[in-house]
Amino acid sequence: MTLTREDAVRLDADSPLPSRRELFDLPDGMVYLCGNSLGPLVRSVPDRVADVVRREWGAGLVSSWNAAGWTHLAARVGARLAPLVGVEAADVTVGDSTSVTLFKTFVAAARLRPDRRVIVVERSTFPTDGYVAAGVARTLGLELRWADPADPTASLDEDVAVLALTQVDFRSGALYDVAAVTAAAHEVGAVTVWDLCHSTGAVPVDLTAADADFAVGCTYKYLNGGPGSPAFVWVAPRHQDALEQPVQGWWGHADPFAMSLEFTPAAGVQQMVVGTPPVIALSALEESLTAFEGVAVADLRAASLSLTDLFVALVDERVPSVEVVTPREHARRGSQVALRHDEAYGIVQALIARGVVGDFRSPDIARFGFAPLYNTHVEVFDAVDALVTVLASDEHRAPAYASRLAVT
Ligand SMILES: Cc1ncc(COP(=O)(O)O)c(C=O)c1O
Repeated sequence: MTLTREDAVRLDADSPLPSRRELFDLPDGMVYLCGNSLGPLVRSVPDRVADVVRREWGAGLVSSWNAAGWTHLAARVGARLAPLVGVEAADVTVGDSTSVTLFKTFVAAARLRPDRRVIVVERSTFPTDGYVAAGVARTLGLELRWADPADPTASLDEDVAVLALTQVDFRSGALYDVAAVTAAAHEVGAVTVWDLCHSTGAVPVDLTAADADFAVGCTYKYLNGGPGSPAFVWVAPRHQDALEQPVQGWWGHADPFAMSLEFTPAAGVQQMVVGTPPVIALSALEESLTAFEGVAVADLRAASLSLTDLFVALVDERVPSVEVVTPREHARRGSQVALRHDEAYGIVQALIARGVVGDFRSPDIARFGFAPLYNTHVEVFDAVDALVTVLASDEHRAPAYASRLAVT
């Protein structure tokens, strides 16, 4: 049966999560399918940032650490994030980049298993995860073991201290079962670190129910925190007393303003904090998270699956020359769809020229992220329509696309 634009209109009307696009400052007519790279601007963020800069910083100056509650900002942001990943607010903090947070977390995780020598990462992981794991292995004298992405648990044995995985693969959009993989790791006595960059805000994660150990995630994708917004980290309560992260800074001290020479770690997840929090970035992030107010994670997931289902069905029906790389089973699919094509770079660029924004990942993947807060089924229909036109008219072969931009 041929799917029509009217079908898409009907799916939008029946969606469990009506679009909140009006909360976002998206250009009129643009189909933005790149929220899995950089989420759009939430409309209320500029005023909040201006207020923080002018009133809190400009007028309040140093008194704002107390008067404007800057010291509690990271905890407040953590509290807003916590329900999206199924954890208690007190066990989450936010502050450094994802890569730095991964470093601190991998080391802290490995230190929980001092008698073990191996850290396992799968071969198609996001590069930073692999680079940081290699650096940690070198620093701690561990072995880095590369696992098969199809079954990373096959690489587990009694030598493994840490299994570090990204829940949703950044290229293919394939999704791991956090609870099942965590259980397999626990069976051999290893601990898990989950990178939730491509999950949080679009794919439900219940870290508590999954009995997970650690999780790290960025906030500039589906959480729309802004370019380079700080990452979060969660530590299971059962590990917090024994926690030892390697970058001992004064904001992770039990009493920073005691200014003592000796480092005494703060209790709980606060020990993961290192230095002065990025107040402006955290304020922008806190404001951006208001877009999730009143949203049930189950509805986010239902809407996301409905969008990706429609995209896959339309590509199958109308663009059979393109391979859908993303798993079709709901249980194995994140919130993006990856298409494989030898000319994927040109296709992405030609689509962008038509107002349909996705991105390209080397060597041959066109990626399309679906953010249930602002993407609609009609946009999905229009995006595939544009793809059909691009391929039919060879727009992707324009000479301008022969050389690649720095950020693809
Ligand atoms: C899975 C994953 N981990 C980490 C990162 C990035 O880390 P950072 O925020 O330090 O640049 C990304 C960025 O896209 C990612 O997709």
